Amino acid sequence: MHKWWRSPGPALLAAALAIVVAALRPATEHAAAKGRPPLRFGPGGAFKVALFADLHYGEDAWTDWGPAQDAASDRVMAAVLDAENPDLVVYLGDLVTANNLPVPNASLYWDRAVSAARGRGVPWATVFGNHDDMAFEWPPEWFSPDGVPPLRWPPGPGSGCGFRGTPRTDLMAAETGANRLLSYSSSGPRELWPGVSNYVLQVLSRGRRARGDGHDHDPALLMYFLDSGGGSYTEVVSSAQVRWFHTQSQFLNPDGRIPELIFWHIPSTAYAKVAPKAKSEIRKPCVGSINEEEVAPQAAEWGMMDALAKRSSVKAVFVGHNHGLDWCCPYDGEEREQELWLCFARHTGYGGYGDWPRGARILEVTEEPFSAVSWIRMENGTRHSDVTLTS
Ligand SMILES: *[C@@H]1O[C@H](CO)[C@@H](O)[C@H](O)[C@H]1NC(C)=O
Ligand SMILES: *[C@@H]1O[C@H](CO)[C@@H](O)[C@H](O)[C@H]1NC(C)=O
Repeated sequence: MHKWWRSPGPALLAAALAIVVAALRPATEHAAAKGRPPLRFGPGGAFKVALFADLHYGEDAWTDWGPAQDAASDRVMAAVLDAENPDLVVYLGDLVTANNLPVPNASLYWDRAVSAARGRGVPWATVFGNHDDMAFEWPPEWFSPDGVPPLRWPPGPGSGCGFRGTPRTDLMAAETGANRLLSYSSSGPRELWPGVSNYVLQVLSRGRRARGDGHDHDPALLMYFLDSGGGSYTEVVSSAQVRWFHTQSQFLNPDGRIPELIFWHIPSTAYAKVAPKAKSEIRKPCVGSINEEEVAPQAAEWGMMDALAKRSSVKAVFVGHNHGLDWCCPYDGEEREQELWLCFARHTGYGGYGDWPRGARILEVTEEPFSAVSWIRMENGTRHSDVTLTS
């Protein structure tokens, strides 16, 4: 069935985005401040992350198929968590399809998405996609030929109807407020709003603690989460976010000793540059299993990729957004010891466009010596597309 709102959609080109940059303080306010235990490499020296991308909860709640596909998305995540037992789940944006949600508060659906990790006591981190805070889009069939909507709306869950979408800040406040021990998400610095979900997580070393040599708090991996926009504003990573990244990385990792990984929702234009031709075979050095559409990139590139390519400590970028792509390809960066890998996740949810089998990209990082490997775990348990991101 064709569902009219189901595409990554063209970039919402708002007027030029004026972003006021106040002083950017180096801030990893998160873990310690809230009493959460720090993230740490496991006894085997590994740290495993499951990426849940494009769940698109809450579609067509007034029909049978909407709730049925949400139940199917629950099952995908349960199967992946059973098979992989990750240390962290990253929800890579488009947790909900807000433009198909006539409810005043989308947190209900957002909460259902994160309940997969919460139910198993697995910590998680979220970033925003372009659908999460969209305003409700009226289906054309809800209007009569003279343009007047019918008097009785399809009933939404919860009390009454709401059509404006739930702002990013409200979604994030509800998530972090209700999950103080397991949510590692953060709204990020106010200076970067309307971008919300810009923050850094540190994964601490295991070995140094075991040696008891006073380096108990040494990070061995830095994970940067950025809001790539969309929905209520343009699909971009702003130059203010680039400056924020620069400040954070200089503060936390001045000598580039600690490996770094990057997570956001919408592929940057660099993805389109390295992409194998749509619908062609995925050949080495790229690794993946579906290549069924063109990359739908951010509206502009304002310096983030240059900033990442210059830092040899940045090993890979992970995005969702394109449900018909699941590959990883290397991106040429001059003067790098190792390549910078650009990876798509795998469409995890039964919501959103596309009928490709559902699964999740898994990422496993080893501390000493540092390595990052990735693969895709399917709903039915199959594993494929193993790739080494550090070689
Ligand atoms: C939305 O619901 C969440 C709980 O799901 C709640 O924490 C939050 O306060 C609600 N927000 C509004 C604006 O009602
Ligand atoms: C699992 O699903 C994949 C499609 O992703 C399919 O190719 C494979 O045959 C299935 N394996 C089993 C054991 O059902």
